[in-house]
Amino acid sequence: MEAQPYAAAPADSPVLASLPVEPLLTSEFDADPGAVYRRLRRLHGPVAPVGLMGVPVWLVLDYREVLDVLRGEGQWRRDIRYWRARAQGELPPGWPLLAGYEVRQTMFMDDEEHRAARQTLHAALRPFQEARGPQGWELRAAVSRYADDLVALLAAESGSAGFADLGAQYTRPLLLMVTTRLFGCPVELGDELVMDLWRMLDGGLGAEPATARALAAFTRLAVHRRARPGDDLTSYMLLADPHLSDEQLGRELFMNAVYLNDITGNMVLNTLLEVIRGNATVRRSVSAGQLGETVDRAALANPPVANMCFRFAARDVPLGDYWIRSGDAVSPSAAAAHQDLLAIGSTTLVDPAFSARSHLGWGAGQHQCPAAARELAGLLVTHAVGRILDHFATVELALPPDQLPWRAGPVVRGLRLLPVRYELNRPARQHRGDTLKETDRQTTGLLAGLRRLMFRTQA
Ligand code: HEM
Repeated sequence: MEAQPYAAAPADSPVLASLPVEPLLTSEFDADPGAVYRRLRRLHGPVAPVGLMGVPVWLVLDYREVLDVLRGEGQWRRDIRYWRARAQGELPPGWPLLAGYEVRQTMFMDDEEHRAARQTLHAALRPFQEARGPQGWELRAAVSRYADDLVALLAAESGSAGFADLGAQYTRPLLLMVTTRLFGCPVELGDELVMDLWRMLDGGLGAEPATARALAAFTRLAVHRRARPGDDLTSYMLLADPHLSDEQLGRELFMNAVYLNDITGNMVLNTLLEVIRGNATVRRSVSAGQLGETVDRAALANPPVANMCFRFAARDVPLGDYWIRSGDAVSPSAAAAHQDLLAIGSTTLVDPAFSARSHLGWGAGQHQCPAAARELAGLLVTHAVGRILDHFATVELALPPDQLPWRAGPVVRGLRLLPVRYELNRPARQHRGDTLKETDRQTTGLLAGLRRLMFRTQA
């Protein structure tokens, strides 16, 4: 566990704790993170010291340095036990971000343990990848059906033309419905799980008990599926690694649920925004079936994982204009790296002529989003966006772009709402009432609970 000394930092180079740091999470950062990244770069170069809720860490801003960190597995460790401030008891009591970092799952593992955990997820997702296989086919059909049901609900509530929030009324319930199905949640667990996921995703005060409750719920799900295996991700993970304890499986499901809901949801909303705001080229490429390119452009303009979770230096190392000491925490910023790459502002549309594939929206290196998860996310984003484009004759922003409310946390940047004015192509189909299959009926019940919850969360 102990990092071996390598080339020690020169004695006169400043240590993180001695540097004046500006807090990252300010109202300016909420409104315009790009301006903050630019100032930090001007003051410090490619790597800047910042305060995260009272704890100094390094924010990596430039594309080349971000890639160096993401790809340098031997130097940049994920295991939280490498973090010197934590090991030496220097974190403020109740520091709100620690609860998430203490959940030991794939993201915070290194080396062989990490590779084995990724392998388990890959094997468990495989049945859903094959579009012609039963699980893959059913998942795709379910996503389209849920999307259609949500649009039908919207039409029933607000009419075939009107105003809607594509966050609360479409994207978030859609992904929670997918999670419930994919994970194989029985409905009794589903409602509870969903409530705690939302509380946890809100962060801030109450994050710790919400995290504990969500973990307990996912652990109960693991116990349930071990006893009653089904055609779901939870059961397939147990099949791929029968040695997974219920607690470890609960932790893995917890993290996957965050990606599946918060991160994928933000990608759906960012892509919808890119399309709705898009110029003729963007719209043409969407209608030509090149939605994937629009997703890439949205990831470049606003990566949902804006600042990636910490890496810890295994030994002293120069990075940018500073020496990072062994055990320091660094956060590689995809959002700042994209700005560096393109010299774009946070609210500027990406020039469609640019090849957007060089984005870091999926991360890079050993911990990048696993291929099977990317494929699933791609499927969800394109289906979710595609169904909106199919159903809506017109859809335009109900607020000027610079007034859209963004949620800017230490990791995630995503739209709180996506308010639109819309007109449907044709009356969306009604719910199929008594022809609903059992799974659909459960989902509709869950949906009603979710909608109530979501409107409460926003209030
Ligand atoms: C559009 C949606 C998604 C985006 C933009 C995204 C992005 C990312 C990024 C940037 C990372 C690397 C984080 C880091 O290095 O600190 C990551 C890792 C990961 N993602 Fe995704 N992700 C998405 C969807 C998903 C989904 C749907 C799943 C699961 C079903 C998933 C599972 C994972 C896992 C397990 C890791 C950790 C990999 C590791 O540490 O080895 N992601 N994702």
